[in-house]
Amino acid sequence: ASQSEEKDLVIIGGGVAGYVAAIKAGQEGMKVACIEKRGTLGGTCLNVGCIPSKSLLNNSHLYHQILHDTKHRGIEVGDVKLNLQQLMKAKETSVNGLTKGVEFLLKKNGVEYIKGTGSFQDEHTIKVELNDGGETSVTGKNILIATGSEVTPFPGLTIDEQTVISSTGAIALEKVPEKLVVIGGGIIGLEMASVWSRLGSKVTVVEYLDQIGGPGMDTEVAKGIQKILKKQGITFKTGTKVLSGEKTGDEVKVQTEAAKGGKEETLDADVVLVAIGRRPYTGGLGLENIGLEVDERGRVIIDSEYRTKIPHIRCVGDATFGPMLAHKAEEEAVAVVEYIKKGYGHVNYGCIPSVMYTFPEVAWVGQSEQDLKKADIPYRVGTFPFSANSRAKTNLDTEGFVKILADPETDRLLGIHIIGPNAGEMIAEGTLALEYGASSEDIARTCHAHPTLSEAFKEAAMATHAKAIHF
Ligand code: FAD
Ligand code: NAI
Repeated sequence: ASQSEEKDLVIIGGGVAGYVAAIKAGQEGMKVACIEKRGTLGGTCLNVGCIPSKSLLNNSHLYHQILHDTKHRGIEVGDVKLNLQQLMKAKETSVNGLTKGVEFLLKKNGVEYIKGTGSFQDEHTIKVELNDGGETSVTGKNILIATGSEVTPFPGLTIDEQTVISSTGAIALEKVPEKLVVIGGGIIGLEMASVWSRLGSKVTVVEYLDQIGGPGMDTEVAKGIQKILKKQGITFKTGTKVLSGEKTGDEVKVQTEAAKGGKEETLDADVVLVAIGRRPYTGGLGLENIGLEVDERGRVIIDSEYRTKIPHIRCVGDATFGPMLAHKAEEEAVAVVEYIKKGYGHVNYGCIPSVMYTFPEVAWVGQSEQDLKKADIPYRVGTFPFSANSRAKTNLDTEGFVKILADPETDRLLGIHIIGPNAGEMIAEGTLALEYGASSEDIARTCHAHPTLSEAFKEAAMATHAKAIHF
């Protein structure tokens, strides 16, 4: 075993949380080590999450559009064929480019990148089982746990990533399944249902709750996108609980029951995707060696400055509280380094956008109508449909709407919800407005270029504080 010099910061995990903290700390002149066991940097997001899934979503959309949405635009195409192997290669090109880019950035910022599995030996020492064999250890004045999350398994259905798959298998299938059953109609379920349905699978999504979209999606929006996805050919069974699954040979039988009890059904599938959520990952980290605890959902317990009960050991990203989103992990990574270096940092948890990359996209920031009702907060609603937006009409992509929720007294924005083409880009404007405490009138009085989709955002704001012009 060898031992390097003591670091100012040792980071366990090279995902978005870990690598961003490493770069930021390097920029701040700190001596940093980042330990990652995967063999590549970028964590779930770059390797098996955000990036590969968006590559498949983008290219499967293109394929589906060429097949079904060109003739009326005046484009006649010949023989269109799917080359799944090439589609996967394109995904790998994006992933490899980005993970190598992160490695370069760590080097550029003077971060020592240690390839191996880290665990606590004591409160300042991390033992590392090196990927290439052997062992080393590294000591740090500060330690950051950034070990991320893993798939929540479905009891009784062992994930083999061939027949019973998690999102990791869903981004790497070698052939298009004939029948795909998705357990869980959250964001992973719906994004992956979209990919494989576009490529030719008959997809059934089983969701326990009465609404799809996972936690946080506005109910009106969830209903709207469900209708659109249904038109695209996806079958939904909401209010339905998966009881069990049984694998026999190359097939899986999925037993379901109405969530409120009663009606049972068996669904046949050649592939089943388990997408019922993710859970923090702290396995093998040796938290017990230093007396650190996790809560009942496995989250590392921290205070508002990301400190565990051992103050120089902190935790950010999926391994602790809050939404499991890459940009949330990134914000926390910057803030935690600022806390360590300067004693202050900032993340506005009321202002973290969510985007679901279906077609059309769904995006939101701030509170939903059901949140506001539950908290007894009065609100005013303004909506504007893309069917009345000139750019959406030009593009012949008119599904969806923008919905703004504002305080009836002060007109201050409370929430913004969009279903529509490019909603994921448009939500940045809403996020900025919310962050700066804008009113709907502020947006309504801001000039937006014509013809753009973002005019729908301006018009929804007009509808919130007065009246839209074009609807
Ligand atoms: P992770 O990215 O999980 O990184 C943790 C890293 O720590 C891993 O690489 C792991 O190997 C390493 N590690 C763990 N233990 C040890 C150890 N003991 N020693 C060394 N290394 C260790 N979020 C979005 O915002 N937008 C999206 O579009 C999006 N799409 C997604 C799609 C899918 C299919 C999935 C699964 C997730 C998606 N997410 C998305 C969520 C996003 O990937 C996570 O929120 C994000 O990766 C969290 O970052 P993290 O650094 O906390 O954890
Ligand atoms: P999720 O929590 O979003 O959704 C899981 C869904 O499964 C819930 O709607 C739940 O009601 C349902 N469910 C649970 N048990 C069930 C059962 N027995 N039968 C039927 N339905 C059941 O989790 P998901 O989709 O797995 O995603 C995990 C995380 O990854 C999310 O927290 C999300 O933040 C992140 N992610 C983000 C993306 C993005 O930002 N675009 C894309 C993909 C993932």
